[in-house]
Amino acid sequence: MRILVAGATGVVGHPLVGALRARGHQVSALVREESRARAPEADAIVVADALDREALLAALSEVRPEVVVHQMTALRLMTDNPPEAFAQTARLRTEGTANLVAAARAAGARRLVAQSIAFAAAPTGDTVVDEDVPLHVDAPDPGWAATVQAVAALEVQVLGASLELSGAVLRYGTLYGPGTGYARTALGQQILAGQIPLPGGGAGITSFLHVEDAVGAALAAVESEATGAFHITDDEPAPAAQWLPHYAGVLGAPAPRTIPVEMALRMFGWFMTHQLTAAAGASNARARTELGWKPLRPSWRDGLGQE
Ligand SMILES: NC(=O)c1ccc[n+]([C@@H]2O[C@H](COP(=O)([O-])OP(=O)(O)OC[C@H]3O[C@@H](n4cnc5c(N)ncnc54)[C@H](OP(=O)(O)O)[C@@H]3O)[C@@H](O)[C@H]2O)c1
Repeated sequence: MRILVAGATGVVGHPLVGALRARGHQVSALVREESRARAPEADAIVVADALDREALLAALSEVRPEVVVHQMTALRLMTDNPPEAFAQTARLRTEGTANLVAAARAAGARRLVAQSIAFAAAPTGDTVVDEDVPLHVDAPDPGWAATVQAVAALEVQVLGASLELSGAVLRYGTLYGPGTGYARTALGQQILAGQIPLPGGGAGITSFLHVEDAVGAALAAVESEATGAFHITDDEPAPAAQWLPHYAGVLGAPAPRTIPVEMALRMFGWFMTHQLTAAAGASNARARTELGWKPLRPSWRDGLGQE
């Protein structure tokens, strides 16, 4: 099939281009002018900024993809400028997605697969939730509420685009592995430095996903006809009280100290404190049944902190 990957220089997009080509697909990589040098090997390179609608329409009409994959975020800016990372990512999820949907339709594409997140569900009291739980668009933290509203806007646009354009939304769990925020070189350094203590009892649950499994799920979604939102997560949702000491142990660091929740709120803000103390995990049952996908790394214990 002719496939276009938007976000083809990214931690998921880059290896996805190679994985799709290895399956025999003809793959175009969409990159921005300034990122051309980091483009993966592809059958075609097309250049456009997703926030430039005309440029995007022209790029897609050049290669006429049958399937379009949206792997665009600005989360790489997180290390240097978190507010900008969130603001730009929200823009990509709203305006960028609208432009991509328009360009995909104009180019005659029949399917759109887009990246979303598995940790945006509103609290229900359950420790593990499915895709039917509403998104936390009215979260008490205005920054996180704005992020989730942008995620919801992306999902509505992808799933409701049109009858001709079938949509699948991949709600990735917390990515770990090379190049991610949970790599040894990123979060690992903070854990080594003792900067990530455990708030309260550490009851917040994280559903992890190795970056290779994110690629595998995108591949499965491209080749499937299934529509809807799917949690793409490993099989072992884990409380912070388990995974954080495990990560420290893998690094040979001392066990994280425990701090009161109020102190965590001052140190980390609402979102991270919520993740570590109260968040729910995400079940991958629907992706297993409907996409025929399963994680090759069923447990974070097989790799978190090792790369
Ligand atoms: N995905 C999640 O669930 C999540 C959540 C929190 C944190 N993180 C962390 O954030 C990092 C990012 O992972 P990711 O795969 O989401 O992103 P990524 O690796 O930064 O890839 C994002 C892609 O989007 C492209 N892009 C950005 N702005 C664009 C624009 N205006 N027009 C066209 N393309 C644009 C980037 O291209 P350029 O090369 O041109 O910038 C890049 O190819 C990882 O470390 C991950 O651990 C991820």
